[in-house]
Amino acid sequence: MENKKILLSENEMPTQWYNLAADLPNPLRPPLTADGTPITPDTMAPIFPMNLIEQEVSTQRWIDIPKPILGFLRSWRPTPLKRASALETHLDTPARIYYKDESVSPPGSHKPNTAVAQAWYNKEFGIENLTTETGAGQWGSALGYACGLVGIKCKVYMVRISFEQKPFRKVLMRIWGAHCIPSPSQDTQAGRDILKKMPDTPGSLGIAISEAIEEAVSDTSGKTRYALGSVLNHVMLHQSIIGLETRAQLKKVGIEKPDIIIGCAGGGSNFAGLAFPFAAEKIDGADITIKPVEPKACPTLTRGEFIYDYGDVAKTTPLLPMYSLGHTFVPPGIHAGGLRYHGMAPLVSQAVVDGLFEPESLDQLECYDAALTWARTEGSVPAPETTHAIAATIREALKAREEGKEKDIVFCYSGHGLLDLSAYETYLDGQLVESTLPEDDLQKSISDVKDNPRVE
Ligand SMILES: Cc1ncc(COP(=O)(O)O)c(C=O)c1O
Repeated sequence: MENKKILLSENEMPTQWYNLAADLPNPLRPPLTADGTPITPDTMAPIFPMNLIEQEVSTQRWIDIPKPILGFLRSWRPTPLKRASALETHLDTPARIYYKDESVSPPGSHKPNTAVAQAWYNKEFGIENLTTETGAGQWGSALGYACGLVGIKCKVYMVRISFEQKPFRKVLMRIWGAHCIPSPSQDTQAGRDILKKMPDTPGSLGIAISEAIEEAVSDTSGKTRYALGSVLNHVMLHQSIIGLETRAQLKKVGIEKPDIIIGCAGGGSNFAGLAFPFAAEKIDGADITIKPVEPKACPTLTRGEFIYDYGDVAKTTPLLPMYSLGHTFVPPGIHAGGLRYHGMAPLVSQAVVDGLFEPESLDQLECYDAALTWARTEGSVPAPETTHAIAATIREALKAREEGKEKDIVFCYSGHGLLDLSAYETYLDGQLVESTLPEDDLQKSISDVKDNPRVE
């Protein structure tokens, strides 16, 4: 019988991160200030510590993981690569389906891979408080956990709709010592302005980011910084450990090159983490199909534009070269809160422009159908975000059956859904509806950014 789990020992864990910026066919464009001039590291200094800014702008291919960070990661890494053999049997597919199980971390997702790194670098730099935003609460709880480990304070602005839909994530944050409030809030000017205009807004990641950055930069003691759980280059770097481990695990079962790589994409980090080491092989000529999967309600890569845009509503971030639906975009309150972001990581965006990835968008009903098939075959309950990767995997496995082809499909199981049961209840009660972004709404938010600097 084939092994269900492919494991690495702790001393086989990668000791360096991989940076795709070193290998992209076309170099990454720089972030810009509002007047269109390229950002210098100094301009980012009030927001991030310099040691992370150095990683953000680095084009070095391999970056050593500091020993204390390796120590934290060892609490749950290397994560298992598992074969979804029960799902294969159920689908009657010749495809072999593997999934990298990132749900085994203490907060239950891939997010602590970068949270422990960011908390540690901030502490090293002398920072005492971190602020952040969170959608589903996975990132907020991951950063709360990480700040607890290194001994710094953490304040989390949680998108209001998720704050209401996912009450237990707040409890997790409190358990690890973080302070969590709903966004928009009265604590910041950005929050107050939005509440005045839209008192009933469900909130968005773009709004919560504005609030968290405002709080960090307005601390005159200089001891507060902001941390982002996705989108930025250093986050993609920290997540590359997912794909590096996966590559080593596949080799253990004789797979030199998978055929298809899949990950759900919100800001792009779990997808990038799995995909970037394989993207490097694709750049070197390997034939691998690599798919980021997003919701039809927030179709950044499939219907957005590759433009310079802000990462937040109040335009506090630099202009980033990325696929975007426009920074004023407030997506419908779909249950996959972590996929409700208007933008996409510049590294993922550039790789899409370069033809390395093939994005796909799926409706949430198909995703929850897939999640039930998954839970009734493989057993575990995936996070709403992760269901998108599962649904896309099922599509590919059924295609392989139609074509009669054996294929190795690998996807990132980015998190468990044990704190998302209210979403499942809505689905099981038949109350969950299809959610596709109407063209008029898309055109409106895209027209709001028509004067942004063009990507040449
Ligand atoms: C379990 C899970 N998967 C995926 C995502 C999407 O984020 P990213 O695209 O950065 O991986 C999130 C974000 O909160 C998440 O919690």
